[in-house]
Amino acid sequence: MKHSRRIRSLFLPFMVAATALFIALHLPLCAQTPAAGETSVKPGINTEYLKPNLDVSKWVAKFEKPGREVFDQREKIIEALHLEPGQRVADIGAGTGLFTMLMANAVGPKGKVCSVDIVKDFLAHINDRAAEAGLKNIQTVLGTDRSVELPENSVDLAFCSDVYHHFEYPRSVLASIRRALRPNGALVVVDYRREPGKSPEWILHHVRASQEEVAREIEDAGFKREETPEFLKQNYLMRFRKK
Ligand SMILES: C[S@@+](CC[C@H](N)C(=O)[O-])C[C@H]1O[C@@H](n2cnc3c(N)ncnc32)[C@H](O)[C@@H]1O
Repeated sequence: MKHSRRIRSLFLPFMVAATALFIALHLPLCAQTPAAGETSVKPGINTEYLKPNLDVSKWVAKFEKPGREVFDQREKIIEALHLEPGQRVADIGAGTGLFTMLMANAVGPKGKVCSVDIVKDFLAHINDRAAEAGLKNIQTVLGTDRSVELPENSVDLAFCSDVYHHFEYPRSVLASIRRALRPNGALVVVDYRREPGKSPEWILHHVRASQEEVAREIEDAGFKREETPEFLKQNYLMRFRKK
């Protein structure tokens, strides 16, 4: 009895020191993954897209029709991206490929567009579209709700049109975009203005954050905001640089 108490008293300081050392070694690792444990900011926001046997033609009719501001202003939006031939860019949340096709023409045969989406049916549609148009510089990538699944330091620009408010785990996705961007890479976000008292009811219900809240989230994720032209009404366009 006496003997075992002695052993315990000898081992106790050792156990305390070992535990303290373990915590000290692992705490910085946890701090480096800021999005660990992030919970969904808008559960169910992508349910419509994630249904089995998605009717892609229904979404083409919805996304690529006059009256949708980003469709009407697509050429001006592409101009605002300042794309250059040879660049590698990413269309995050590419949907039916509206912007992927335009970006592919802008970066030319020596450039590349990675079209990322979490919906396989959309990516299959984009592959068909690219083949029909004879565009060989488009690569589709299946992302997850927490990651764009692009290699580190692989793209000059990441573009999100009508997608930011669809990110259920924005901190995780932003960290993955930041990782995928090359040094000094750009992130351009186009999304709906959410202005209580001004915006229609469906936007107030569907879009969770205002432009300034979105800007703050992106800045907090390691980006610096830059000046951008103001030519959209129902939407805004913001440009950020990787810090
Ligand atoms: C409203 S659509 C916009 C499509 C396209 N960007 C456009 O403007 O026409 C939103 C798209 O974001 C995709 N999406 C949602 N969450 C995503 C995520 N975490 N990563 C990549 N794509 C995502 C959806 O599957 C859907 O295709």
